[in-house]
Order: sequence, then C-alpha cells, then structure tokens
Amino acid sequence: MKKNITDYKVKDKRVIIRCDLNVPIKDGVITDDTRIKASVETIEHLIYGGAKVIVLSHLGRVKEEQDKLTNSLRPVAKRLSELLNKEVKFIPYTRGPEVETAINSMTPGDIIMLENTRFEDLNGKLESGCDPELSKYWASLGEIFVNDAFGTLHRKHASNVGIASILPSALGFLVKEEVEKITSALDNPERPLVIMLGGAKVSDKIGVIENAVKIADKVLIAGGMHYTFYKTMGYEVGLSIVDEESIDFCKNILSTYKDKIVLPEDIVVASSMTESASTRLATKETISKNDIGVDIGVATQNQFKSILSNANTIIWNGPIGVFEIAKFSLGTRKIVETLSNCKAKIVVGGGDTIAALNKFGFSNKKAHISTGGGASLEMLEGKELPGLKVITDK
Ligand code: 3PG
Repeated sequence: MKKNITDYKVKDKRVIIRCDLNVPIKDGVITDDTRIKASVETIEHLIYGGAKVIVLSHLGRVKEEQDKLTNSLRPVAKRLSELLNKEVKFIPYTRGPEVETAINSMTPGDIIMLENTRFEDLNGKLESGCDPELSKYWASLGEIFVNDAFGTLHRKHASNVGIASILPSALGFLVKEEVEKITSALDNPERPLVIMLGGAKVSDKIGVIENAVKIADKVLIAGGMHYTFYKTMGYEVGLSIVDEESIDFCKNILSTYKDKIVLPEDIVVASSMTESASTRLATKETISKNDIGVDIGVATQNQFKSILSNANTIIWNGPIGVFEIAKFSLGTRKIVETLSNCKAKIVVGGGDTIAALNKFGFSNKKAHISTGGGASLEMLEGKELPGLKVITDK
C-alpha cells in the first residue's frame, strides 16, 4: 500500500506536488482544462492544510529552444488561479535564484508554479532522462513530495520518480482514485468484463490485447485495428488501414482466443476520407479494393450494444471509427449512447476516446474517465508504473 496525502501533516511544510497539467493550448488559449480541474482537490487540501505548495508539471514535448514559446505553463497558472480563486504565483524558471527566493518568501497556504519541467530537456534531457542532479535539486526545494500526475505515472522522469526517490512521498487524491478504479476493473471486476479496443494500429495495442484476452470475458475490437484482423482471416480490406507487421500476432491471438474476440459484423466503407465521400454498408466479405473502412455498421452497433448492455464492467480505450468526420460518426455516437445507459462500471482512457465521449454528450455518473492516455494503457497492459512504484510504502 502506498502512502496517501492524508498520511502526512503538511502544515508549514514545503510540499512539492507533481501534477499533469499537460493541457491543449491553441494560440495561448487553453482549449480543454479538464486536467487542471482534476488537480484542484489535492491542491486545495494542501493549501487549507497550511502547506507551502510548489506545483511542478510538464507541458507538451520540448525538443528545441523555440518549443519554449508555445509550451510555457503561464496560462495554466492563470487558469489554476481562477479555479482556486487564489493567486498562483508563476515563476518562469525551473531552477535558480528566482525559484529559491520565491520559495523562501512563501507563507503557509501560498502556492507557486514553476515553469514547464521539460524546459530542462534542452540541456540534455535532464527531466526525461531522470537526471540525478536535477532530481536532487528539485527535491531540495521541498520537504514532502505528492504525486498527483496520473497521466505521467508511466514515465520515469526527474520531476516524478527522481524527486520521489529522495523525499518522503505520497499519492494525491487524483492518482489514488484513478489507480484504484482502474486496478479494481482489471483485477477484481464484476463479471462479465468487456474490454472494447479501437484505434488505428494493432502494434500500438499488442500488449493491451494480450492482457485483455486473458482477463476479459469478451474483447471487442474495432476502429482501424480490425482491418488487420480481417486481412489475417484472408479478406479483402481495400484501402482500409492495415498494420502488416501485426498480421502474425493477429493470427495467433485469433486462433487461441476466437471465442473471446468480437470483430464487427458489418462496417461503413467510404470512397475517401472526406465529408463528401460516398459511403455504403459492407461486411468483411463485400469490401472491394477501393473501399476505406471508416465506421461500424448498424448490425455491429446492435451486436456491441447487446454485449455491452450485459456487462457489469466495461473498459474502453481507442476510437471505434473516424468520428471526427460527421458522416462517419454514427457508430461511435451509438456506442456512446449505449454506454451512457449501461448499468456496468465503466472505465474510459485515451485522449481520442474521451474526445468521442465529450462530442456525443456522454453522461454516466458511474463512469471513470481517466486523465491519462499512455498511463491507463500501460495499466491495461498489466505493466508496473514507475511513478507509482517509487512512492513511499505505508
Ligand atoms: C499525456 O498527455 O498522456 C501525458 O501528459 C504524458 O505526456 P507524454 O506522452 O508527452 O509523456
């Protein structure tokens, strides 16, 4: 069992909290603040507990000097300030005298945010490489470390694993809840457990499929991925996306788990990837060489609906059609409607999958919508997460 934030007395302590405030920003404007909102509960707990709160986060990937221009956390600090209704002092540095002076002048209940931890990647991947000196420096700024960045638990970086291996550490409320909900769905699900996987490339999901077929009662595979399965079965897939390198994998998994894997009964094929494309319903036997598979068909909507409606636990990761194009989005919308009305415990992960939920008005209070794409995927693979492993045990 890992220590939680409530296991520490934080009053008057300098507490470093690692959040995942990696939010989409366009022209300086935050287009989705879900992750900032999700961080508020733990931060408020620290503020009201009288801690001096130092927030660290990454934003985007910083590979060259000019990436700094579009990846500053300044707008994020401003938004957090609005949500907390309290000043979040932004320090536009990741280290140095400005950082130290700001921290030394903090009083209990104050909160500051340092600049994007990945700015340190410009000096030789110090953050992403979990550099020991940088970890030591950041750790020296605080007395307790709280990891509330679920989205980066699968990374071994200086700002999460590095600091946690030096300071006494704990999980924040967000990480605790996410880990518990996903672990319970995977390790102790109310059955039937149905895992629905989409996305374009089988090779991105090999680990997940391998684990899913072992633990789930049914594994629904759709999105671009199932065309590789169709091809493995000897069908024409036209111009649909195929992941040639995964054909052997699909062959093996299909022969071993054919009773668990459910592929779409019918699909929508299009003449091009555009809104003006002509479309028709097809089955795997009737795809022709110029067709592109873009959505699941009506029979599959019903086939998936009946399986999902009977499930008691559902895990969904990966879009099941090209829902960004309105003409190809009906299947995804119907699945989202089905999930809105399901009695099952639902766990959803992955940025595109969540975009689909938001687009089609998903409303199911029992569902857990994960703030982490890669991290939730690695949990589905059954992998150990370095950011979690390093946290102090109870
Ligand atoms: C995410 O958006 O999945 C997390 O913030 C991790 O980001 P990364 O893939 O750039 O490490």
